[in-house]
Parts: sequence; C-alpha cells; structure tokens
Amino acid sequence: MLSDIQEILYDEEQIRHKVIEMGRQLSRDFKDQNPLVICILKGAFIFMADLVKAMDIPLEIDFMAVSSYGASTKSSGVVKIVKDLDVPVEGRDVLIVEDIIDSGLTLSYLIDVLERRNAKSVTVATLFDKPSGRTVELEANYVGYTLPDAFVVGYGLDYAEKYRNLPFIGILKPEVYSR
Ligand code: XMP
Ligand code: MG
Repeated sequence: MLSDIQEILYDEEQIRHKVIEMGRQLSRDFKDQNPLVICILKGAFIFMADLVKAMDIPLEIDFMAVSSYGASTKSSGVVKIVKDLDVPVEGRDVLIVEDIIDSGLTLSYLIDVLERRNAKSVTVATLFDKPSGRTVELEANYVGYTLPDAFVVGYGLDYAEKYRNLPFIGILKPEVYSR
C-alpha cells in the first residue's frame, strides 16, 4: 500500500486541523439553518464524519451515491445517481460534502438536480480541489486544499476502490494505474 504512494501531500494531523477549521466556519455560517448535510459517497465518507463532528449546530445528514469514474482516473462525464437521498430537499438549506472536485461535472450535475427539487439553497464544501481539471465552470463555496493536477488517494479517496483507508492524502505512483 504505502509503496504505491509517490508523495504524501497532507498528513493526518494537517487534515484534522483543516477539517476542524472548516467545521467551525460552517457552524458560524449555518447557525439556525438546520442544514441538510449531504455526503457524496463513497469518497467523502471520512471527510463527512470528521466535518460534522466539528460542527456544533443542529443539522441533519443524508447520503447520495453517484458514479462517473469506474476504475479509471479521468471522469467519464456521465453521472449516474446510484443511491438517492432518503429525505426531500424542498425548502432546505443543503450543504453538499464532496471529497474532491476535478472536472466539475459531478457537482454541476448534482447542484442542478437539487435546485430542480427546490432546495432553498445549495452550498458546496469540498476538502480537495483540482481547479486545473475543470471542463465546466464551477466553484465550491468552501475548499480545504487546492491540489496540483495529480491523481491522489487516501482519506476516503480511492483508486479502483483501494487506498480509501489511508489516513493521509497522497499522490499515487503513475505506474500503479498504468500497469
Ligand atoms: P469531477 O471530474 O466530476 O470528479 O469533478 C469528481 C469525482 O471524481 C473523483 N476524483 C478523484 N478520485 N483521486 C480520486 O480518488 C483523484 O485525484 C480524483 N479526482 C477526481 C472523485 O470521486 C470525485 O467525487
Ligand atoms: Mg472515486
């Protein structure tokens, strides 16, 4: 596992501090709104858990699973809802929790879906952002770290379903996905 990592970008301790800081900011901004916090599975599951623990306000959570990547490192551009929300978003202040934004296709699709369902507001918090990968115009409201254009794994993010359990975020050695 570790031998497949080229470089650790942010370690467990650094990420912990960043997520706590984001949680505190979100608590201030969403105070009294009882936001519906939506975790985009699977990649955001660790970020989501740590983030909501750092939010000391009333909130509700739900999960949505979308697929677009498969076992590749580039977005296919086709987004499919694999698991939908359990609760209606109509009239709710929705906070989307995403692991990473690359092309922006996944999120622009999701934002569109939630707006068409008449969410009162749709806000995006992502731990990682790769702005150089954008093919559609999209900016997250809250960004943890801006990353270079490299394929990263760990802290929930996978390559072919592996490496999600690494507690840090690191660049995967290119030879892993080209072999
Ligand atoms: P798009 O291109 O739609 O991509 O913005 C968002 C989704 O693609 C996945 N993604 C990655 N997953 N390492 C990963 O493990 C990466 O470097 C990476 N870049 C994009 C991720 O699932 C995200 O939700
Ligand atoms: Mg993924």
